[in-house]
Amino acid sequence: SAPEPYSPTGAPTDGDRGRSAQRGAYLTTAQGNRPYDSDHSLKAGRRGPVLLQDHHLREKITHFDHERIPERVVHARGAAAHGVFRGYGSAEQITKAAFLGEDVETPVFVRFSTVLGSRGSADAVRDTRGFATKFYTTEGVFDLVGNNIPVFFIQDAIKFPDVVHAAKPHPDREIPQAQSAHDTFWDFVTLHTEATHHTLWNMSDRGIPRSYRTMEGFGVHTFRMVNARGETTLVKFHWKPKLGIHSLVWEEAQISNGMDPDFHRRDLADAIEAGAFPEWELGVQTFPDNEEQSFEGIDLLDPTNIVPEELAPVQPIGLLTLNANPTNFFAETEQVAFHPGHLVPGIDITDDPLLAGRLFSYIDTQITRLGGPNFAQLPINRPHAPVNDMLRDGMHQTAVHRGTAPYRPNSLDGGCPFLAGRDEGAYIEVPVDLPAAKKERGAPASFDDHFSQPRRFWLSMTPVEREHIIGAYTFELNKCHETAIKQRALQVLANIDAELCQGVARGLGLAAPDPDRPLAAVEPSPALSQLGRQWPVE
Ligand code: HEM
Repeated sequence: SAPEPYSPTGAPTDGDRGRSAQRGAYLTTAQGNRPYDSDHSLKAGRRGPVLLQDHHLREKITHFDHERIPERVVHARGAAAHGVFRGYGSAEQITKAAFLGEDVETPVFVRFSTVLGSRGSADAVRDTRGFATKFYTTEGVFDLVGNNIPVFFIQDAIKFPDVVHAAKPHPDREIPQAQSAHDTFWDFVTLHTEATHHTLWNMSDRGIPRSYRTMEGFGVHTFRMVNARGETTLVKFHWKPKLGIHSLVWEEAQISNGMDPDFHRRDLADAIEAGAFPEWELGVQTFPDNEEQSFEGIDLLDPTNIVPEELAPVQPIGLLTLNANPTNFFAETEQVAFHPGHLVPGIDITDDPLLAGRLFSYIDTQITRLGGPNFAQLPINRPHAPVNDMLRDGMHQTAVHRGTAPYRPNSLDGGCPFLAGRDEGAYIEVPVDLPAAKKERGAPASFDDHFSQPRRFWLSMTPVEREHIIGAYTFELNKCHETAIKQRALQVLANIDAELCQGVARGLGLAAPDPDRPLAAVEPSPALSQLGRQWPVE
């Protein structure tokens, strides 16, 4: 047959599709050799020892031995779908991103996930959900790597390993719901009170969505949009589900986890297969790009804060429709690699210190998870725009690069017409003035208020939603072993609202702390403060 067509742009070709699918009328080895029997090893006589020279046997088993790759360090369990995004054109005033133009259609791949469970864990657990979208735009890939909760646990990426260590299964028993895991999670979120807001959302009905199809999504961080005139606007991204926002009640979640741990995965795939394509509207809240990067007193660089929609309404800018299930879970859902730094012209980052750490973390983890630096060549990660980079070689290189040494400009290599002008390309650094500053660790004073927004969230709840929140805190905290941690959690709740605190205290059989007692009076238990000073080595 004809040789595989070579694709210098990296775009999938018929040859690529053929390579990943099964071609030809008969079974072959990886080398295209046709075995006459794939069910019996080569032996010395029918009952004799198996012979090492049986390459077909060795190839089959060796490949099988390497079928699994490491699961994601977080967001390991997920489900995904293909779809299309159509821009409304309404964002053209604030961004030059081509895919947001009127009626521009862009293929997308969206992966939903839980954060903490392993690949084989249940769907309807109380957790944050990931909502990651890969837009294959004509200007290259744009990834919006968001969650279904608009705020995050921490304000600084340096704490991310800590919060995940506190919440993941413990090293001794690897039991996610063990008492020890509850102790460490609640220890972390009560010692780092910036986590109060996210935790409250988790304990609300938002922590147990009815379906991926009925979840909101949020970019969480503030991003910066740049229009054709070079003017900038700060924005927060929102996905609004057309089906509305719906949650399970706790008892439903428990039953679902027992009877159908694949509840959300099945729901998404079944709906798409039945032609009930889920839709979300993408919207932005917009804020003037002022020197303080704050809006109505809210620090826009603090990812534990929202901006209430009453103050900045969400303006619709496009429609997402998921219309096709993956053909192969591993090749697509498992191998997809999102990155918050995959940006197109017209969308830029801000100085949110959490986002800064994410920009480093995703590619770093993917080099391990996907076996080297060339995972952008995997079919699901390939841009649908021409690729002409200067990256060469490395593990799992599948491109056959031509030309002389990759450097630019290069007078031996036929010139280099492809560098965009400064006004056209991606990664244009918006010239933002930086204040004269000393190098130091620490957070700005504007990151200090950890309770007003949780209080507002609580006060916006209906009586039945409040009952659910009290029930969730009571259930989860009752699994903690250390009374000191439960008491500290009650002190945090007292700082949100007295009714909430008293309700949970009743459920725990503990006295509600004095709401006026300042939180700073809460000390870590002696055992924990010792751990903080020095890890005991025995
Ligand atoms: C996945 C790190 C905060 C949303 C991941 C992964 C890492 C990571 C290492 C696994 C990626 C992979 O293996 O491909 C971090 C760090 C954070 C952080 C260091 C903070 C410093 C956030 C925030 C959001 C978020 C604030 C939401 C706005 C996601 C999503 C995924 C993910 C949706 C799953 C992507 C997928 O479906 O493949 N994160 N993350 N993360 N993260 Fe984060």
